[in-house]
Amino acid sequence: MGRARTLAQVYRHFGEVDAAGASPLYERVAVALSESGEALRAIEAAPARRRHPTVILAALHDLALAGRAPTLAAAYAAADGEAAAGAAIDTLLQVTDSVVAIAVRRPVRADETGRCAVLYPAIAEAARRASADAVGLIDVGCSAGLNLNVDRVGIRYSNGQSLGDPSSLVQLSCSIVGGRPVPARAMPEVVARIGLDREPVDVTDADEARWLRACVWPDQPELAARLDAEMALAAAVPPLLLHGDPVEVVPDAVARVSADALPVVTTTWALSRFPPESRLRFLRRLGDAAAGRVLMWVSAEGVGVAPEIPTLGDRHASGHSIIGLAEFDRSALRAEAIGRCWSRGRLLAWLAES
Ligand SMILES: C[S@@+](CC[C@H](N)C(=O)[O-])C[C@H]1O[C@@H](n2cnc3c(N)ncnc32)[C@H](O)[C@@H]1O
Repeated sequence: MGRARTLAQVYRHFGEVDAAGASPLYERVAVALSESGEALRAIEAAPARRRHPTVILAALHDLALAGRAPTLAAAYAAADGEAAAGAAIDTLLQVTDSVVAIAVRRPVRADETGRCAVLYPAIAEAARRASADAVGLIDVGCSAGLNLNVDRVGIRYSNGQSLGDPSSLVQLSCSIVGGRPVPARAMPEVVARIGLDREPVDVTDADEARWLRACVWPDQPELAARLDAEMALAAAVPPLLLHGDPVEVVPDAVARVSADALPVVTTTWALSRFPPESRLRFLRRLGDAAAGRVLMWVSAEGVGVAPEIPTLGDRHASGHSIIGLAEFDRSALRAEAIGRCWSRGRLLAWLAES
């Protein structure tokens, strides 16, 4: 009983606090689940760490998108909170095993190319510094590898600048903070796109692509449309995805970039998931991989998360992130903070002289 109450509180809090405003559908569904003893008992069939509303609601959404919960799908499409609440409980009770199986198997994802507004000028700057005409992109903690399309999206900045492909089906916008423009330089040719992750997502696999969509809340059609466009872009030129511990795999990835191209390793909000010891090992591996060539590492991580990248005196966990550029020149390391960003790349303050 005590455990059920705790779970009930988690669902009520999620509905009334986390989803409120952002998703009226999830607000109503989560509160309804919190008030249904049967629904809570069904959720308790999942292991404790897979019972969170974001996981269970994504699993239910996945079944709706797959055509296995048509009443729920219709309620979501009609934005009918009452109908969705009833259908979510019915689905949970009727196909508990399927909901639990999805919840156990799939980590919740939040893939977006919004990061590209930050990555594009940083990678172009890395190429300029190395006088490189071609780059090989290696994204560490890549999830679906959407960062690897950085040269194939269009970006408009609030100061009137634009970068990338203005005719791309993925168009991003980013607010510039402070007076300094981003470098106007185009990125050189991208000759390799390699993503490293413990569990990479292959967007050419229908089940995996549907799961990414399921993680978007059902009353956020703009986000869903953008994700669909991003996945279509990625599916047209699928990256090479390498499974495993990225720290161990990164030298192999670097070796796959031809000698006439500059390897640019990127990390976006990934290193915080690695233990501090593993972050230092990552840095050493980059140094090893750069033993015979120049290599660049572009990072967008919370303040103090990326080793060696200056924190500019900012407080840790202060809500924004530091954009780092580290150059390994035959193992010698020069690391600089070239910008700050907020909201995972929706706001950018460029700092570097270029
Ligand atoms: C928060 S996501 C960041 C994804 C993406 N870079 C972004 O900007 O949204 C972290 C990614 O790192 C991977 N990951 C987390 N811990 C890991 C570890 N110890 N080893 C390998 N990959 C890990 C996860 O699978 C996930 O795809």
